[in-house]
Amino acid sequence: MPETAPQRARIAVFVSGRGSNMAALLYTSRLDDAPYEIALVASNDPGAEALALAEAEGIATFALSHKGMTREAHDAAMEDAARKVGADHIALAGYMRILTPDFVKRWEGRMLNIHPSLLPKYTGLDTHARAIAAGDTHGGVSVHLVTEDLDAGEVLGQIAVAIRPNETAESLAERVRFAEHQLYPRVLARHVARPYDAGWLLDRVRDLALALPQTHERESHGSPGWRVGTEKSGKYFAYFSDQHHGTPHISLLVKCGGMDELEALVEDQPHAYHKPAYYGASGWLGVILNRPGVDWDAVAERLHRSWQAVAPKSAMRSMDAADQF
Ligand code: GRF
Repeated sequence: MPETAPQRARIAVFVSGRGSNMAALLYTSRLDDAPYEIALVASNDPGAEALALAEAEGIATFALSHKGMTREAHDAAMEDAARKVGADHIALAGYMRILTPDFVKRWEGRMLNIHPSLLPKYTGLDTHARAIAAGDTHGGVSVHLVTEDLDAGEVLGQIAVAIRPNETAESLAERVRFAEHQLYPRVLARHVARPYDAGWLLDRVRDLALALPQTHERESHGSPGWRVGTEKSGKYFAYFSDQHHGTPHISLLVKCGGMDELEALVEDQPHAYHKPAYYGASGWLGVILNRPGVDWDAVAERLHRSWQAVAPKSAMRSMDAADQF
């Protein structure tokens, strides 16, 4: 792994049943290069087979029946268990509970689910029987981000599985299961590595920078940069630096309130800020992006402030106008 490789992501797996997907995640996590580890297996069914397997493999478990509890209270207990082991992602693997919107929101982008259909087809139950009844040539499996709407979050990966003549829901389910066990570990690995991936970070920064009025992108000394104003006389308000000048950081360079603020931020929060070579001397602050727990609202705010520091009056006016809506 490169020098800058993050610690392995800690995953809490929520299950209700047999846990074959949990087992696929668990055994893959034991490979040398796995970017994640299973920190907890938690279930709403104390009798779930998945719990016994996790225990045998030395994984921490948590079980709490939902019977007689409100949805909020049960979710809170499950979430608490995940937090206690320091989980940074939750992988739902046959977890047969609908989660409360607040819970889902808190884990936005960090909670995945596996669903046995080619989403957006066949959300909900009986997916294989429905695919066969519709005369589809393929069933399959999807891993997606969990959002408030059932099985509707961004699809992170899919595998199609051919439907053969005389296929039954059971025979298809059995084959799809093989695909599930291939898909989930790979997609989870890719997903947890995403916040350290320069391409993914650049796309996010670019979206935020170009959402500000009168902006355009222009490369500067090999780095992507964003300017406000016209193509001719615009000024840079941000640069993207991918481990430049020997630093391990992937960072966003923005103008901040001045040298004092820059030095103070770098001293107080060295995990979050750095003083970039060359640029630092002229007041550019490095906001470190390849680290756990980046607050993207704060990144957007920094970009906005930097934009304000150099934007011409006409751009400011269009921003003021937009703010009124
Ligand atoms: C799988 O088919 C998965 O796609 C669905 O629930 C089932 C869980 O099976 N969400 P297992 O408990 O992982 O064996």
